[in-house]
Amino acid sequence: MFRAGARLFSRMAAPAARRNAVVATAVVGTSAFAMTQVAMADTATVDYNKVRADIADILDQEGYDDGSLGPVFIRLGWHASGTYCKESGSGGSTGATMRFDPEASHGANAGLHIARAALEPIKQRHEGLSYGDLWTLAAIVAVEEMAGPKIPWQSGRVDKPDGSHCTPNGRLPDADKGPQHLRDIFYRMGFNDQEIVALSGAHSLGRCHTDRSGFDGPWTFAPTTFSNLYFQELLNREWVPKQWKGPHQFVNKDGGEIMMLPSDMALTEDPAFKKWVDIYAADEARFSKDFSSAFCKLTELGCDLQGGFSYTPFVLITSLVGLATKYGQ
Ligand code: HEM
Repeated sequence: MFRAGARLFSRMAAPAARRNAVVATAVVGTSAFAMTQVAMADTATVDYNKVRADIADILDQEGYDDGSLGPVFIRLGWHASGTYCKESGSGGSTGATMRFDPEASHGANAGLHIARAALEPIKQRHEGLSYGDLWTLAAIVAVEEMAGPKIPWQSGRVDKPDGSHCTPNGRLPDADKGPQHLRDIFYRMGFNDQEIVALSGAHSLGRCHTDRSGFDGPWTFAPTTFSNLYFQELLNREWVPKQWKGPHQFVNKDGGEIMMLPSDMALTEDPAFKKWVDIYAADEARFSKDFSSAFCKLTELGCDLQGGFSYTPFVLITSLVGLATKYGQ
């Protein structure tokens, strides 16, 4: 009951201003995008516009979670990228080493075979498309299709042929840990406190599954609409430990329908993180803009993408339209 209701609510939850912005960006963006394609046509062997459309086509899945594969595609793109280590230069989305064991079986990646399998027919339909490009593009299309910001994206990730380049276990964050652990993990990738908080806002989408991470439930009542609700819920609800036999997590005291992980709560416990939680809870446009930058950076960590197919000009123009929409009200 909750899932069907959550989906309906989430579709209705996007404020009118955001819906208008999405429509406006789609209309103005179309011509800018066409120009980008012409400019890049010589270098592109894959029709990334068609890949985008193919990804968008399979996002809605009646009967799966809250009705969308979007959240699990975002988690796939993030986990493929978040293995990066700036000191050694290893990991990141280029290589797509999560196809192979041991990385495929790392605890943090539990359940991501669902996303990889759903995208496989698209990989097969587009000769020359790399898994690294497909997984990161799927994450970006998912954010955009769920009313999130446009995110710059470039092609050019090269798949590794086998598992010998798999990153060691433990490069992705644990949900039962606090601020220092988050810093250890994200600083290793090259992120700062502001970017850590912005990226965490992806938890406005999707849910935890007892058969994947062991945790249970969604973070918001609108888990298929990108928004700053995650930050607002963190600040405005009273969170109490969930009484159950599963791992330690929090639920809202007034009903127990939504949840927070210990690592989510860490963002309100640490003053340097909390500062950004406050900013993003109060300003959705700022959150969207910062999320777009940080997520683009995440998907490009360790990648050499010079000369690849690029959506950047399209994004610049749509950002301008977004600002005009915001300040023109
Ligand atoms: C800050 C440290 C983070 C921790 C400890 C964490 C932990 C988790 C856990 C335990 C789940 C539940 C998995 C499941 O049971 O299916 C999850 C789901 C998810 N995470 Fe995170 N995460 C973190 C950061 C991020 C970031 C940076 C992103 C993206 C930018 C992200 C995006 C998501 C999404 C979209 C889901 C929902 C997946 C679904 O519905 O299938 N997370 N995360």
